[in-house]
Amino acid sequence: MIAIMIGLMSAECVWGFEYTGSVTSWQKTDQYIEFNLSNGLFRLYPLESGVYRFRYARKSFSSVPSYAVIKTQEKWSDFTFQEYEDHFLLSDHFLTIRVTKSPCRIRISDKQGRIINQDDDFLGVAFDEDEVRCFKTLYPNENFYGLGEKTGELNKRGNHYTMWNTDFPAYSFTHDPLYVSIPFLIGIRDQQAYGIFFDNTYKSTFNLGAGSSRFYWFGAEKGEMDYYFIYGPEIKTIIKSYTNLTGKIPMPPMWALGYQQSKWSYYPDETVTALAAKFRQRNIPCDVLYLDIHYMDGYRVFTWDPLRFPDPKKLTDELADQGFKLITIIDPGVKADSHYTAAKEGLEQNLFATYPDGEVYQGEVWPSWAYFPDFTNPATRDWWGNKLNGLIQQGVDGFWNDMNEPAVWGQSFPDMVRFNGNGYPTNHKQIHNVYGLEMARATMDGIRKHSQQRHLVVTRAGYAGIQRYAAVWTGDNVSSEDHLRLACLMPQGMGLSGLAYTGSDVGGFIGVPSPALYVRWMQLGVFTPFFRGHSAVNQQDKEPWAFGDYIEDIVRRTILMRYNYIPFLYNEFHQSHLTGLPIMRPLFLNFQYDPECYTSKAQYQFMVGENLLVAPVVSEKENFKEIYLPEGQWLDLNSFKVYPGNQWISQAVPLDKIPLFLKAGGIIARQSSQNYIGERKLDTLEFHIYPASASDYELYQDDGQSYAYENGTYSLTRIKVEQNKTTTIQVTEPYHQYDTGRKYYQFNVFYAQSPHRITVKNNQNSVVLREDDLKQGFRYDSRSRVICLTIPAGQDSEIQIR
Ligand code: GLC
Repeated sequence: MIAIMIGLMSAECVWGFEYTGSVTSWQKTDQYIEFNLSNGLFRLYPLESGVYRFRYARKSFSSVPSYAVIKTQEKWSDFTFQEYEDHFLLSDHFLTIRVTKSPCRIRISDKQGRIINQDDDFLGVAFDEDEVRCFKTLYPNENFYGLGEKTGELNKRGNHYTMWNTDFPAYSFTHDPLYVSIPFLIGIRDQQAYGIFFDNTYKSTFNLGAGSSRFYWFGAEKGEMDYYFIYGPEIKTIIKSYTNLTGKIPMPPMWALGYQQSKWSYYPDETVTALAAKFRQRNIPCDVLYLDIHYMDGYRVFTWDPLRFPDPKKLTDELADQGFKLITIIDPGVKADSHYTAAKEGLEQNLFATYPDGEVYQGEVWPSWAYFPDFTNPATRDWWGNKLNGLIQQGVDGFWNDMNEPAVWGQSFPDMVRFNGNGYPTNHKQIHNVYGLEMARATMDGIRKHSQQRHLVVTRAGYAGIQRYAAVWTGDNVSSEDHLRLACLMPQGMGLSGLAYTGSDVGGFIGVPSPALYVRWMQLGVFTPFFRGHSAVNQQDKEPWAFGDYIEDIVRRTILMRYNYIPFLYNEFHQSHLTGLPIMRPLFLNFQYDPECYTSKAQYQFMVGENLLVAPVVSEKENFKEIYLPEGQWLDLNSFKVYPGNQWISQAVPLDKIPLFLKAGGIIARQSSQNYIGERKLDTLEFHIYPASASDYELYQDDGQSYAYENGTYSLTRIKVEQNKTTTIQVTEPYHQYDTGRKYYQFNVFYAQSPHRITVKNNQNSVVLREDDLKQGFRYDSRSRVICLTIPAGQDSEIQIR
């Protein structure tokens, strides 16, 4: 058997499978090492310590630039490369890559000699007609995470996934594929992780041990075998490196962190203003209202229905007066109508995708027959951005890009349709998965060109890199428990894959949630980055007041809570903007070496940032929730009880409760709630602190609306906490180019016993605070064991508690 296998290994073509063969010669250039293989070409690009690009082609490498990768290769040579008799060794600070000569296979090991990842000895990289595939050894204890917007459990082991952006309403708990393709995988074995990003836009596949445990493989129906290997072993390192390659989220406008209300569709204009008024009358915070397809004139993009919305500017002004932003849906399909300006312009300027014979392609969507802008044509993107300017000038605050898989009725956009491909003409097969990405790019570029204000772009479809332009919501879900669970899982998986700004249609798009399901979904929504209620056409109302007073009251308090957490959440968005790390994180991202964090049960909890643990109730009838607390001490933010970590606890979860825990050392910035972001100038910033021996926190703030932060107009506030016999809290404002307008800091410090003495020092003086005097002193709540004190902002201060 072995002899047969070895025979097969050295063969170059077996049963239609063509292997890359053996190394025949090689050369090193500034950028890569190129190996000529007996049946192909292989280039190995050292990018930085631990990050390598592996590229295989049959005859020649394509010159088409990546749609996903925006980082240009830097000069880097901090590695050694040596040839030996039957292999080559490339070594850097972290890794050794062994390339065997015959056959050419890759094995990547760490400095302890532990194999991190290797080609399957027998199959390696293979071509099967147009298809390219890479086979990797699958270890019994290896698990997989990531892959972007995928259903099912967080661990993807044992499953087969397709990357082909697909409109599939009312998908099931395990349906695949959906709207977004992120061919980026994180493999974890013995809690050590690596990443693989397969940058191929054709329909691709990841088989992670489905149907066979002999190997795992990824491949595509065409194109190159072009993948990036990213060494961890920390998962956080991988996500940072992956988003260095493909980009990070931009800072959204701060209002985009507020609650958003949508429905298919709110019309006419009076319905929209009445909806806005209802939120305000009922004191339910809300920042954004959405207009779905019925606002347009016969579903023609860039138009308004003249009867339903006779004066859009008046509407946006009225909404703005009440503190609302307006986002309109914009689908790609441009109605094929010879009297319609956008259609005429697009035809005249050759901006639409065409059949190979030059006829403009038409597909059927909401407006009936429609043309499809070729967003891979820079001229089309430019035109589209300019068209959006009309809406921007009318006061529209963001765009909701839908149906951009691209979806057509019948689900079959013809493969042969031609696209510009950014100067590399090609067909739909290659462009399909990046169509949504390029549409979102056109949208964001248009916004940046025509407005000084940040706008929000929301997209349904995308490819790796979509995080640079848009928030992604998980499409047409269902009002069911399964989908509540998916609403918890999918954003976590997307966060591991570079998509930090995500969320689901709260309450479910299709169907009617039970009141309990609605509440539980809202509670989850408070801690998902994108927080929007939406509902399909002809459904029972799903606004916060639609389920009676009792539910409305719980939902009001739930949404208010989101508004309390805005400074903290905005800071987490900023962290993500800088690092690429997700806002909503699987437990194992923060506690990678704790096996319990990988269990199926623990996946229904998540961290927001470093220290806040959220354990949403993901079932409508659940009265108790089992909650896992990883290492450390945890403060229950509902009961103010302290729990030691490394244990499962069980808690009663009445309908109005969402279990929340702050890890010792955790500091959270909050503020009082408002009906909408920016309703009033809030002069007090709260810090909620659970002191540990030493911890710190830096809060980022900016104006929340312009791009001035890009030129340094922002402020940082730093809190340093030390606890031994005395608890010391230092607050400094190391950078304050932006005037936050705040006057006070309110500290809420968890402190196990009543304090004896609290002093506050600043540059001028040192004051001993009086108890039970909130203005000049402090208050200690013996029930919650929280000290509350307020000090003036705008100067460095130190609080000492004994
Ligand atoms: C798609 C979207 C949905 C929207 C509907 C009408 O189904 O996913 O959110 O409401 O189209 O535009």
